Amino acid sequence: MRAYDAIRIETPRLVLRPLRLDDAEVLLPMYADAETMRYMGVDAYGGTAADLRATLEMRLEVYRRDGFGLLATELRDTGEFIGRCGHLRWNVGGTVETEVGYLISRAHWGKGYATEAARALLYDGFAHLDVWRLISLIHPLNVASQRVALHNGLRYEGEVTIPEIPVRPVFPAQWDPKLGIHVT
Ligand SMILES: CC(C)(COP(=O)(O)OP(=O)(O)OC[C@H]1O[C@@H](n2cnc3c(N)ncnc32)[C@H](O)[C@@H]1OP(=O)(O)O)[C@@H](O)C(=O)NCCC(=O)NCCS
Repeated sequence: MRAYDAIRIETPRLVLRPLRLDDAEVLLPMYADAETMRYMGVDAYGGTAADLRATLEMRLEVYRRDGFGLLATELRDTGEFIGRCGHLRWNVGGTVETEVGYLISRAHWGKGYATEAARALLYDGFAHLDVWRLISLIHPLNVASQRVALHNGLRYEGEVTIPEIPVRPVFPAQWDPKLGIHVT
């Protein structure tokens, strides 16, 4: 298993690296922004940076145990922290599914960064996570996120409900040993 702290994913414009506790400060305004959180299934974050740091500390324990998780997403040129994207695991009706998830800061929306990060995470997930299928769970009204999935070739499959978040359409990608990423 790859160590979470050893993950580094590079794309033409982005670097995805393990989250650190001091990322809480820059994540806070993103999580506290109602517009950003509108379709995330949770309210805008009302806690302090210290609260978020404590939550992050717990998440990092899980990411280190599992060898994957959300990653800081930075601009390659400047090192600016523009969001967090990565792999998340869900129990969907008794089936373990691995999601490619993404959140980009509002100042950087519409520049293709989520599409670029998600594509890299599809390849990385199939290479390192021992899965044949990756999904994105996307709120029915989250058109921007659906565009990201569609750009990467993912297509709507159906809807699921999981305890953590309400009804979510599923956009899956599958791995075919001959074809590479295979979408239906
Ligand atoms: C969804 C999100 C990650 C997209 O990030 P991004 O870097 O702006 O995405 P991209 O630039 O790669 O692509 C966005 C696409 O959505 C489109 N889009 C953006 N806002 C839109 C809107 N309000 N309505 C319809 N389409 C929209 C863009 O035009 C683009 O599509 P196009 O290339 O076909 O024109 C970003 O909006 C975000 O972080 N939202 C809050 C968190 C979230 O919802 N995450 C997804 C959870 S499933």
